[in-house]
Amino acid sequence: MSKVTVRANTDIALIKYWGKKDKALRLPENNSLSIILDGLHTTTTVEFSSQYHDQVIIQGRPVKKRERQRVIKHVNRLRTIADLDTPVKIVSSNNFPRSTGLSSSGSGFAALTYAVLAACNIDLTEKEISILARQASGTACRCVCGGFVEWLSGESSDTSYAYTYQPSQYWDVRDVVAIVGEETKSTSSTSGHIGARTSPFFTMRQQNITQKIDQVKQAIDDKDFTKLGTLVEAEALEFHSILFTSQPSLIMWYPGTLQVMHEVRNMRAAGIEAYFTINTGFNIHVLTLPKYQEKVQQSLDSLKLVQSTHTASVGNKPKIIQDHLF
Ligand code: DP6
Repeated sequence: MSKVTVRANTDIALIKYWGKKDKALRLPENNSLSIILDGLHTTTTVEFSSQYHDQVIIQGRPVKKRERQRVIKHVNRLRTIADLDTPVKIVSSNNFPRSTGLSSSGSGFAALTYAVLAACNIDLTEKEISILARQASGTACRCVCGGFVEWLSGESSDTSYAYTYQPSQYWDVRDVVAIVGEETKSTSSTSGHIGARTSPFFTMRQQNITQKIDQVKQAIDDKDFTKLGTLVEAEALEFHSILFTSQPSLIMWYPGTLQVMHEVRNMRAAGIEAYFTINTGFNIHVLTLPKYQEKVQQSLDSLKLVQSTHTASVGNKPKIIQDHLF
């Protein structure tokens, strides 16, 4: 069997996936919407061979037991489809800090799913790949698509998958990601999801979310950046209000996160269209338009608590590349 390497982009959720109605299948409480990010990606090489024992290396190191179990569980899911029991070597690397709120599990499991299926010569539709990737990590089901993506929550495994709502070339939106910390976050999204319903605000969120998704889709259709940014920033604050008020309460932000939020508001006051959003973590995304990107990046780079910035445009689905990692 051949060695296969896949590069998958991560994404940023405009409307967040938070809470699961089925934990084992990873069926989310609500639909979510995201932008695939060309600029932040995971590269993964896999090779099946009887010479190996199952091996998982991420960022140059064998992963810890729990993470290994999660990866191998997913590989086993795919091995069952391929009717295969050959051991696999997996080497994976991100070009951005992982487990810091930048959805590295989304790009990671999207890359792994694509790579294993290609190595096993299994040809599936994008919908089928999305359904498989979802079972490893919710965000991964969106990262198998390109452009502006919607994940339909569904009522069963077969009906919970993502699709491209608008392709990457539809609208040139940029994301400047401010890194304010590189250490692993204290609570993973997987653990955080469990507490979603303990927030008194969660029910209210569920009541309004369909309308909110429709509004964001309309803003994308109309290429109305002010409307999109306003909705997305408000959604990020609503989402974090749920984290603050869950039990246990989750405060993911660092001082640097708040410094970026204030700078974004200052930029807007000065006429620069920029809006922030944050996942479960401290690193923060700033959405803007191409004409403001340089200015936004310069402003964020000049902040004392910002360690570095990454820039991204709207990206495409995972692709097979020839630069193997081993
Ligand atoms: C806040 O996809 O990381 O980023 O399904 O347990 O792997 P698991 O969770 P994960 O949750 C991401 C939550 C979020 C919102 C989002 O990306 O939609």
